[in-house]
Amino acid sequence: MYKMMIVGGAVALGLVSWAAEPAVKVVECQKCPFRMKIAADGKSANINKARLMDDNPSAAELDRRIAAMRARAEKLLVKPDPNAGARTRPLMGWSSWNTFGLKISEEVILGVAKAMATNGLKAAGYTYVNIDDGFWGPRTKEGKLTINKNKFPNGMRVVVDTIHSLGMKAGIYSDAGANTCGQTVPGVGFYKHDDEDCQFYFKELDFDFIKVDYCGGSGARLDPRTRYTEIANAIKKAAGDKEVRYNLCRWAFPGVWAADIAESWRTTGDIRANWGSIRGIIRENLYLSAFASPGHYNDMDMLEVGQLKGKTATAFGKSDSGLTADEELTHFGTWCMLSSPLLLGCDPRTMPQSSIELATNPYLLAMSQNDLGLQGYVVSKQGDAYVLVKDADKKFGTARFVQLLNLSDKPVDVKICARDLDLGGEIQVFDLVERADPGTFKDETTVQVPPHGSKFYRFDAEQRLDRVVYEAETAYLSAYQELTDAKKANTAFTYSTRCRGGDAAVTWIGFSEANDLIWKDVMVSQAGDYELTLDFEAKTWDLKELDGFIQIDGGVKIAFKTTKEKRLIKLPVTLSAGLHTVRLSNPTGLMEDIDHMTLVRKAK
Ligand code: GLA
Repeated sequence: MYKMMIVGGAVALGLVSWAAEPAVKVVECQKCPFRMKIAADGKSANINKARLMDDNPSAAELDRRIAAMRARAEKLLVKPDPNAGARTRPLMGWSSWNTFGLKISEEVILGVAKAMATNGLKAAGYTYVNIDDGFWGPRTKEGKLTINKNKFPNGMRVVVDTIHSLGMKAGIYSDAGANTCGQTVPGVGFYKHDDEDCQFYFKELDFDFIKVDYCGGSGARLDPRTRYTEIANAIKKAAGDKEVRYNLCRWAFPGVWAADIAESWRTTGDIRANWGSIRGIIRENLYLSAFASPGHYNDMDMLEVGQLKGKTATAFGKSDSGLTADEELTHFGTWCMLSSPLLLGCDPRTMPQSSIELATNPYLLAMSQNDLGLQGYVVSKQGDAYVLVKDADKKFGTARFVQLLNLSDKPVDVKICARDLDLGGEIQVFDLVERADPGTFKDETTVQVPPHGSKFYRFDAEQRLDRVVYEAETAYLSAYQELTDAKKANTAFTYSTRCRGGDAAVTWIGFSEANDLIWKDVMVSQAGDYELTLDFEAKTWDLKELDGFIQIDGGVKIAFKTTKEKRLIKLPVTLSAGLHTVRLSNPTGLMEDIDHMTLVRKAK
């Protein structure tokens, strides 16, 4: 079955194959001397050869290890995915804005689509080809939209049809107000034309996606929720049964209502291909995990993958100074971990091969393209480095994706505590970037992460433990929004503190029933008595007593009081096995800022 060879005194593993099961075989990896490659159905994973061989195992032991390795690789290798591209997943594709700005044309759009169809991007799931700002001619006297004849001499329908003939989808762009952000042609936004413009985009031109910007909307001080809902209704009316995906671009978290009408919503200003921009966007999205759900995602903006330092060529000049390899990895992998839409923004016709490989890495994409709809959340912050986690395969299972994220300018030794990740026993580590299995650990381990770099892993543990610490910044805030002054609007928000865990707390809960905080996913595997502790962050400016209410599973509301000195509220609770919700509120006044909740099972 396998052949051991002694080469220069060292043991090396020769060609190993399983005649009975030809789908999986282990071969030497030429480019990676310390690794073996397991190939199955043309896909591959690398395995740490040293781990297999370093203690000179017996033939039987080696057999056992190879069998274990094979079983693991079979489990991990990305299999054909019957649900690929489902509406429930973050959108994948390309958008014209980041490289071309307003300089778009039929030649550019179709050239890009054709390149994507053949260079591996479409095959990896990048199917949407989205035209951003800059394609219009002026409206006719009757108010009908037209397409710029110089840029699209054959009209737009032929562009959409060609994209469809490549087995891809076509996306378009507009504004909720009268004018778009590029301002090339006035009056081409949706305002006062919702129905007829939707007929044009989705019936006449057959587009499958639309991003709706807000420059005209904010200029005219239109109400975002009203306008975006009106447009959502017009899309539905025009599109009928045809699937049209809708993206809101309001440059900040618009409000929880966005999830009722759209697949994604931009949470930040425009991205640029430089580290400061990427880091800023990551920071703004670290504490939005509660607002992602299957088919509804926080949009961190289009990708700058492929814009490498010193080699960028975009319409935006110096602000696109480019990314190092570590920055590019952090950028792409974090967008996967946080389940942002994945819309490439470079020119796929000239995209560096290394960037194509990164963007098509099936293990990184598995963090994004699954049906769980989860955005990773922070479990620990160490200086400017973070440990993020989210479930893989299924919710509350033994497999989790883990990211070590270093936003700082120095290497950081990041400590990983299995308990923080709700994992127990021996943990098998699979490095999603190295496509290798660097080993196992128990309890804790430390990994050095380079400046601006990240490590991405899949951990498979012996046990899944119940979560003990529920950070407030991972809870759902029912009135959360970033468009107006939260203190004036009386809507809760997250802010940085020096507290534990994610280093953030939630303030301004209360004043109405609607402005509450809910941990929606409190999973308890064993029925029994628990101690629930609420840990509040004392406001230095407020010495008064504050009221709060806690409600479990929508049951009786239990009142509590906090003062500057009394910040810990302890509550004995009896819980059945299964999923629970814990809600904090105050219908009439302000509740104290909450840092986190702990839930610990009482010893019998
Ligand atoms: C805004 C958006 C960008 C892009 C431009 C087009 O700035 O945020 O993503 O669509 O408009 O003008």
